[in-house]
Amino acid sequence: MQLLCGVSDVFNVEASSLVLFCPESGFAGQGGLKELDKKLEGTIRRIFDSGEFGGKSNQSVVIHLPEAIPADRLILTGLGRKKEIDHDRYRQAAGTVSRLQAIKKSPMVAFFFGNDEGDTIASAVIEGFMLGRFCIDEYKTNDTDGAATDVIALYGKTRGQANRLTKGGERGMVVSEGAMLVRRLSALPGNDLTPRKLAAQASALARKHGFTCTVLDEKQIRAEKMNSYLGVAKGSAEPPRFIILKYQGGAAKTKPIVLIGKGITFDSGGISLKPGLDMHEMKSDMTGAACVLGAVMTAARLRLCQNVIGLIPLAENLPSGKALKPGDIITSRKGKTIEIVNTDAEGRLILIDALDYANEFNPQAVIDIATLTGGALYILGYAGALLMANNDKLKALIQAASDATAEKVWAMPIWEEYREWMKSSIADLKNSGGEPATSCTAGAFLEASIGDWPWAHIDIASVDIEKHGRPYIPKGSTGFGFRLLVELLARWKKV
Ligand code: BES
Ligand code: MN
Ligand code: ZN
Repeated sequence: MQLLCGVSDVFNVEASSLVLFCPESGFAGQGGLKELDKKLEGTIRRIFDSGEFGGKSNQSVVIHLPEAIPADRLILTGLGRKKEIDHDRYRQAAGTVSRLQAIKKSPMVAFFFGNDEGDTIASAVIEGFMLGRFCIDEYKTNDTDGAATDVIALYGKTRGQANRLTKGGERGMVVSEGAMLVRRLSALPGNDLTPRKLAAQASALARKHGFTCTVLDEKQIRAEKMNSYLGVAKGSAEPPRFIILKYQGGAAKTKPIVLIGKGITFDSGGISLKPGLDMHEMKSDMTGAACVLGAVMTAARLRLCQNVIGLIPLAENLPSGKALKPGDIITSRKGKTIEIVNTDAEGRLILIDALDYANEFNPQAVIDIATLTGGALYILGYAGALLMANNDKLKALIQAASDATAEKVWAMPIWEEYREWMKSSIADLKNSGGEPATSCTAGAFLEASIGDWPWAHIDIASVDIEKHGRPYIPKGSTGFGFRLLVELLARWKKV
């Protein structure tokens, strides 16, 4: 996708589709609309008066333009009530546009910003448009969709504004490419994204984008005594891989921020086999891993001034004659003994060894992200992810990044009861506390293996897959968590 930014007045934009954002307060509210309406002899006013389009959120209308105007068509897209307009309204409005039939016939789409909108709005608009049109067509053998947009233009009224649009637009493009990578990896089938294949992709991305990637094989993982992680991996014929990503954007002596992502490339549940219905969705049990890979890559591409380490334990959770069994007791890297009561509670087993490995980097903070518990869905529904943290400053930073990206999170407590329920009668811990509060007890289980640093845990199981389709989140893998992590790194403050 090519990005163009410049100065123009509204009736001189040359494009297949010219897009204007409209608040619900109407017609007079948005720069450019009135001038255009005059040229069009009241067409736009008549559309508003008819009630066919009123600038409501996610509403849009397409108007083909007369030849005297260089743009082929005008698309009005709603922002909703004026006092409710925020960045996400722009993201959604652009997402709505991206999914219109008219866009399939628009090699060049130009957004006109008549109200002095700046870089962060430009960024949101690019994200909304790029993510709204996202699809995976490589597995379709007769894709007939054909021509689509290859140029996006952002126009402002002044040189200064155009510069801000360029800055934001470019950032939006880099963020969108990262988010699309995460969605793609998340949606790839287990046979095409094994631990080894994901590790190879990470290495290739590291070479391309200026960060480092070290991959530990099974022998090296064993040498690190990550036996909780290996317990999960041993049921599969596919060997595990442990990825260590490093991006050095800050001073050499600054402690790194460590990101850890759950990378189960397929979760059958193991011997505690999952029910068949929707089991195929468990190919995306590595979205946390993809978010971390995407975030480190994007930090490097945006040259963020932080030191970041990404740790990604990759494995397949399958039943076999070699698989972990309920009742087995294993010893984690930290030296804790764990009674396995449910082999489907595997995410926490791979994460605790990565959490312990984080100590090697003397981190200033550690954040793990994982499709960890189906229970998250019962707490928050599809609306947001579940957050747990041992540090209020870190919690507030994550909350701020969440607000900016509209990837909603809600903090849960880590109560003593949750720690209590994870104790085993025969070993130090058991890997499942049973039915109640599975998301919170999972968090408490992880907490038992952290070091002396600020830590946060983000459970994205509830938001990983979109069932219906929203303006910039088509049905399927959402990539939720990636934009949040990038924003967190971008606005990082000492915690
Ligand atoms: N990967 C699943 C969690 C999950 C479920 C993610 C649905 C996305 C959608 C995880 O490994 C798992 O199976 N968790 C169990 C834990 C339980 C056995 C304590 C769960 O949530 O049921
Ligand atoms: Mn599981
Ligand atoms: Zn899982």
